[in-house]
Amino acid sequence: MEKRIAIVTGASGGIGKEFTKILIEEEVDEVWDVARNKEKLAALKG
Ligand SMILES: NC(=O)c1ccc[n+]([C@@H]2O[C@H](COP(=O)([O-])OP(=O)(O)OC[C@H]3O[C@@H](n4cnc5c(N)ncnc54)[C@H](OP(=O)(O)O)[C@@H]3O)[C@@H](O)[C@H]2O)c1
Repeated sequence: MEKRIAIVTGASGGIGKEFTKILIEEEVDEVWDVARNKEKLAALKG
């Protein structure tokens, strides 16, 4: 089966953050989150 990779821009908050949660629940193989705010982005890992 092909690997599924998602790239989410504006992932540190709002729609991007919620969309990231859905992608993880959907068991996408890799989710690449992109944003300017490194602190908020790092907090997503928790
Ligand atoms: N929320 C809603 O119900 C809704 C409904 C319809 C349309 N929209 C539209 O959908 C978009 C996202 O909404 P949201 O509620 O998720 O917004 P948000 O919470 O204000 O922003 C989401 C992400 O966008 C990034 N961002 C903000 N300004 C940016 C800029 N100038 N350049 C690059 N990245 C930027 C931020 O990440 P960093 O600052 O870390 O880069 C943030 O994590 C907006 O354009 C909004 O008008 C939202």
